[in-house]
Amino acid sequence: MHRILAALLLLLAPQLAADEVRIEKLLSEMTLQEKLGQLTMYAPDQPELKDALAKGLVGSVLNTAHVRQANELQSAQLAGSKHRIPILFAYDVLHGYRTIFPIPLAVASSFDPEAAETVGAVSAREAREDAIRWTFAPMVDIARDARWGRMAEGSGEDPYLAGRMAAAYVRGFQSNGLLACAKHFVAYGAAEGGRDYGHAEVTEATLRNVYLPPFRAAVDAGVGSLMSAFNTVGDVPATANRKLLQDVLRSEWGFQGLVVSDWAAVSELVQHGIAATPAEAARKAFDAGVDIDMWDGAFMTLPASARIDEAVRRVLRAKFAAGLFEEPLVREPVVVSTSYRDARHVARRSIVLLKNDGGLLPLSKSRKIALAGPLAESSRDMLGPWHAKGSRATSVRDGLHLAGVETVRPIDADVIVAVFGETHEQSGEAASRTSLALPPDQQRQLESLVELGKPVVLIVMSGRPLAISWAAEHVPSIVQAWFLGSEGGNAIADVLFGDVNPSGKLPVSVPRTAAQAPVYYAHFPTGRPAGHRFTNRYQDIPVGPLYPFGHGLSYTTFEYSDLRVEGDVVSATIRNSGTRAGDEIVQFYVRDVVASVSRPVKELKGFQRVSLRPDQSVRVEFPLTRRELEFWTNGAWVVEPGEFQVWIAPSSEGGLTTKVYR
Ligand code: NOJ
Repeated sequence: MHRILAALLLLLAPQLAADEVRIEKLLSEMTLQEKLGQLTMYAPDQPELKDALAKGLVGSVLNTAHVRQANELQSAQLAGSKHRIPILFAYDVLHGYRTIFPIPLAVASSFDPEAAETVGAVSAREAREDAIRWTFAPMVDIARDARWGRMAEGSGEDPYLAGRMAAAYVRGFQSNGLLACAKHFVAYGAAEGGRDYGHAEVTEATLRNVYLPPFRAAVDAGVGSLMSAFNTVGDVPATANRKLLQDVLRSEWGFQGLVVSDWAAVSELVQHGIAATPAEAARKAFDAGVDIDMWDGAFMTLPASARIDEAVRRVLRAKFAAGLFEEPLVREPVVVSTSYRDARHVARRSIVLLKNDGGLLPLSKSRKIALAGPLAESSRDMLGPWHAKGSRATSVRDGLHLAGVETVRPIDADVIVAVFGETHEQSGEAASRTSLALPPDQQRQLESLVELGKPVVLIVMSGRPLAISWAAEHVPSIVQAWFLGSEGGNAIADVLFGDVNPSGKLPVSVPRTAAQAPVYYAHFPTGRPAGHRFTNRYQDIPVGPLYPFGHGLSYTTFEYSDLRVEGDVVSATIRNSGTRAGDEIVQFYVRDVVASVSRPVKELKGFQRVSLRPDQSVRVEFPLTRRELEFWTNGAWVVEPGEFQVWIAPSSEGGLTTKVYR
């Protein structure tokens, strides 16, 4: 049987078959130490690296500074390795390499998978020039608690949106030869209290219905690798979780790629209390399904086993597929690639207009405009966390200046543009916070600007939704700008002056206060919804978020009408009822009204971007099939016949709705 398959492979894919032959030959010749070296990832500043290079034991290296350093390390490894097995270089290329795109949470606001694909493809091209062949992205963790700083790195609170974006990033990165890595497997975003690295208490149903789907989408899109998470899932650390890494990932999903641990997550199994020594931790992680140990060297102590060949085979396959055996060294580019046009396009699409009372925006350039706030001049913060080799971005001040607008002092001004929010260190890894409000000095400054009695446009720069309840009441226009990357200031100016009509929608609910977290639209129903005293609410704030998931305004208006269900299709008419051309992201939600178990009050199952001129209308259709109706319960994906509710809507609140029976 094996021979017939091999002959078939030889016929259909001769290169692959030839690689397999070479891999088996290597495996038969390599020593245990050489094999373990392939399963070990080093950082350039690690003292052990020099010795490992001399012996040719370096499988992969993360975080090299530039192509020269990578080539030096590669040459040393090739000289040390009897079999001339090259190093695979990895880097956290999340939203750009040299050209920095908006942070992933912002890109998710575009509801535009093509934008994510562009980010992936451009980043891959740039990173490869520096010898990087593997990125630790996309981050596909669902995040529903904004106290968790890593919300910035993912696509927000919704599994459907995150799944669409995950697949698009994978396609983008891998289309230009950068191996993608869906991380952090799994439920890292469910950390208790939003405390980074913390325990995740999730039921099997929540894992299956919420946290696993974006990983499944990445696997279905052909992702080459996955990273195991730092946290415990229930009482088993993700990095030693055989049920997830073997039963779900390999057996159920048929994943063939690599599993890498997060940084030192293998030896941290000692701190988790499931291993007495790093060597025991290594055995537990490896037996559970981790192939590569990032940074801590614990895998170098593994005893011989058949599973070692299986893991090394995967590593070697990735290296052959990348062409590293043929071309291990990278020629230094004379001119490095950048793609600022793409960055500006994606940044424009990532901006969300939260509020615009009285049509204050867009601004005419002839008005006297003041620019205020501690982030107005900041170019570094515009880059956001994980900005790879991006060194500077256009600030809001630069953007206004390049648009030909010179600003005046607030006291002379007709209108004030105020830029407040977070610095780039305040979100990302290890950036959990108990307050989501503007810091007190910023809040005071904003209040004194509003007291001047002039219209204020608030631009919020942040890696997470901020609880801007006071501003929502007192400031007429609010723009959620996130961290928009290299072209941030230009994109903001494009929107402020109406050269671009904003179209972004929130990929996360905006809480009223941190104490409300987690807040997300697809929550379970309660027997006591709001209405009277003994209901599911806080006494001191209104029910629901400050701004709901899916919300985002335009300079024009859209009218939704004529919702119809015909066969397996739900459709509605969307008309541009305003005076400017604009894009609307039309959203499709479903609820299983009566089922054998409680189901969320609604779940996103589709979205489409439509571009409409004034008075133009279009019919938008969404399928209503098994895929939109199924959920996981009691060990299986099921569709339970009965009553469903569907919505075609401009956000997770409101819209057109009807009941259907399936
Ligand atoms: C730790 C982070 O959790 C992970 O996302 C990242 O890829 C690694 N460090 C490597 O930098």
